Amino acid sequence: MRESGIKESIIAPHFQETRMKGIRSCLACLVLLSTPCTVFAEDLPADTYFSLAVTENSHNHYGENLLFLHFREATSAVPPANSRVVVATRVQDDAMTIDGEFREWDPQRFVTVQGRVMNNYPLSEYFDARPGAIRVAAAFDSRHLYFAVDFEDANHDASTRRKEWVYSQGRWRIAPHVRPDDKLPRPVNAAEEPEGAESEDRVLFMFPIVDRQDLFRDGGLGCAGYCHPNLKEGRDPKTTPVGKGSAEMHTALPGDTADVWHWKATRTNPARSADDGHIDFAAGAVEGFKADPGQAAFEDNDTKALGMADTSQPAFVNREDFQAGRFSTPGFASSPVTEENRLAITPDMTFAEGTTLPYAMHRQATAGRGDVAAFGRFDPKTSRWTIEFKRKLVTGDPFDHAFAPGPGATPPVTRPAVPGNAMTGEKLFKERACSACHGDEGEGRFDKGRWLFPRIQRASGALIAKTAALTRPERERALSFLVTEAGRPVENVMSHVPLTPQEAEDIAAWLQTRFLARGQ
Ligand code: HEC
Repeated sequence: MRESGIKESIIAPHFQETRMKGIRSCLACLVLLSTPCTVFAEDLPADTYFSLAVTENSHNHYGENLLFLHFREATSAVPPANSRVVVATRVQDDAMTIDGEFREWDPQRFVTVQGRVMNNYPLSEYFDARPGAIRVAAAFDSRHLYFAVDFEDANHDASTRRKEWVYSQGRWRIAPHVRPDDKLPRPVNAAEEPEGAESEDRVLFMFPIVDRQDLFRDGGLGCAGYCHPNLKEGRDPKTTPVGKGSAEMHTALPGDTADVWHWKATRTNPARSADDGHIDFAAGAVEGFKADPGQAAFEDNDTKALGMADTSQPAFVNREDFQAGRFSTPGFASSPVTEENRLAITPDMTFAEGTTLPYAMHRQATAGRGDVAAFGRFDPKTSRWTIEFKRKLVTGDPFDHAFAPGPGATPPVTRPAVPGNAMTGEKLFKERACSACHGDEGEGRFDKGRWLFPRIQRASGALIAKTAALTRPERERALSFLVTEAGRPVENVMSHVPLTPQEAEDIAAWLQTRFLARGQ
């Protein structure tokens, strides 16, 4: 049973047509578009909202926190002109191959999502993503759901060398983050130096499972309601940027859960998989983002991480490369290391200067963790990733969204927010008195070892909207950056500020131009 509301009239012809299948008696709805009607769609999975984010090498990402997945039979009609509606059309069983090539996909079926900055790392040391367009399409057969995702990598780099080992001056080190090409368009905070090790490109899907907070409905916050809700306190921003502990993800209500598919260029792609996980409730700075049960598609190639030694070094080489003597060539880059081809490193092995070894070793993901097959290709000519995903419609796993027939979400009618206007944002920031608490530039206030008002120069529009919302649930838990020494959240939470999602995007756009590394 499915309820089709009045609001559908805005984009009704398309949706009604789909849901009419076999229900001739409901034809009246097509005539009287404003009449609510109930139609059956027993053979179609229920429509749902979902989130889609692309991560650019470091931890920063862009995307759309609220897309609508609409299942339909017809393959001929063009998708609706709504950049938030992804239409999944039925295809023949097993017609789709997961090889990162889009031969089976009708180019017309792709929806272009205008990504917005989604990171909520007010103090992070990373580059911002340069928000770009993400093309996405969906299909299903009698057993599986498929997605195709295509985006241009902002750094023009496949970012497949996460934490790569490099042999230098007699020892192994983790290769540092490589500065993006200066000739390319710069990220939002161009003055900031990238730090740390190479990371990887990623794609994240999120689907609601239990959503009592109503984030996955039209006008809801989607994944932004769960992402990075806390900011770690107690360190001087002038000397130490906030890192781990500031960016945990969890639901804000006990019992709420969401399904997450996380494709990772270094760790899961070579194993033709995406990491299947979920988000659960947790309080404060406790991580609620967990892997589903089962073995991951990857393992760290690190003696310490593997419990083999106290210090970190790579544990394995690719056997063939080693036996062929390739590691005696300076700068040689290893082939992948898998469970089958790996050879333990022993003290007598020698390596030439600049040889590299992967940090991630690959194997078959198992059980719930391996539910999502995925494979992507990076085309260096266009700097685009093309990635395909496949999962059973229904896995039976409580940590997975079941794409089963049932009452579905109603289609979006609100206007999606678009990337913000920084000039409008600057005005709003003063007008709405944000500056009174967060400082003229959103730099925050830090006193006697703790934050009085957080620095918000990296806040995404979604985080601003979430924080300012009247309906922000469990305020003391949803954002818990201020924890007293006794471990209790302080009472000082932000008051409600009326803001439209677009105003929040505008403010975010301006704040992101204010970012100063190191909090000077
Ligand atoms: C009366 C003081 C006050 C005003 C005015 C105010 N804030 Fe806040 N804001 C706070 C406090 C306190 C917190 C931290 C506690 C909490 O999460 O509510 C906060 C938290 C935030 C956060 C979350 C930061 C994080 O890392 O989790 C964002 C984003 C934010 N504010 C943006 C804004 C914007 C944008 C405005 C203007 C529309 C604004 N604030 C107005 C006091 C204020």
